[in-house]
Amino acid sequence: MPRKFVLQINGSERTTTTDDDRPLLDVLREDFQLTGAKYGCGEGACGACTVLVGGQPTRSCITRVADAEGQSIQTIEGLATEGRLHAVQQAFLDHQAMQCGYCVPGHIMTAVAFTQQNPGASREQIVAAMSEHLCRCCNYPNLLAAVTSAVARP
Ligand code: FES
Repeated sequence: MPRKFVLQINGSERTTTTDDDRPLLDVLREDFQLTGAKYGCGEGACGACTVLVGGQPTRSCITRVADAEGQSIQTIEGLATEGRLHAVQQAFLDHQAMQCGYCVPGHIMTAVAFTQQNPGASREQIVAAMSEHLCRCCNYPNLLAAVTSAVARP
């Protein structure tokens, strides 16, 4: 049965009425027009739908909206501040880490959490952290270069 949800999204309170079991991805895209997170596989395997919930990378296609309630939700739309890209977004631009771009918001959200939690991480740690994100253009060298650059920034 639908009920009212008050969600904390990108620092603002957003309200919707929906079912507990509805995927967070659908709520973000359809109720709030936050279309940065993408539908790829729909089963938690590709990473295209990744957002941060409670600061942790989360596959929003397999996350019930009820499970995100009461936690901070951050999407790619909330990263830039005062017209300036987040350092990870800038690193992705600097390293041309996008071809079709479909998977990139998911990569960036995981990279944002990883760089915050693992300053100075090794290449092996970066590869491990990003290994569950798929890129159908196979732009992995540039994607890894971007995350490596972001990790190295003070
Ligand atoms: Fe969510 Fe692929 S669409 S992991």
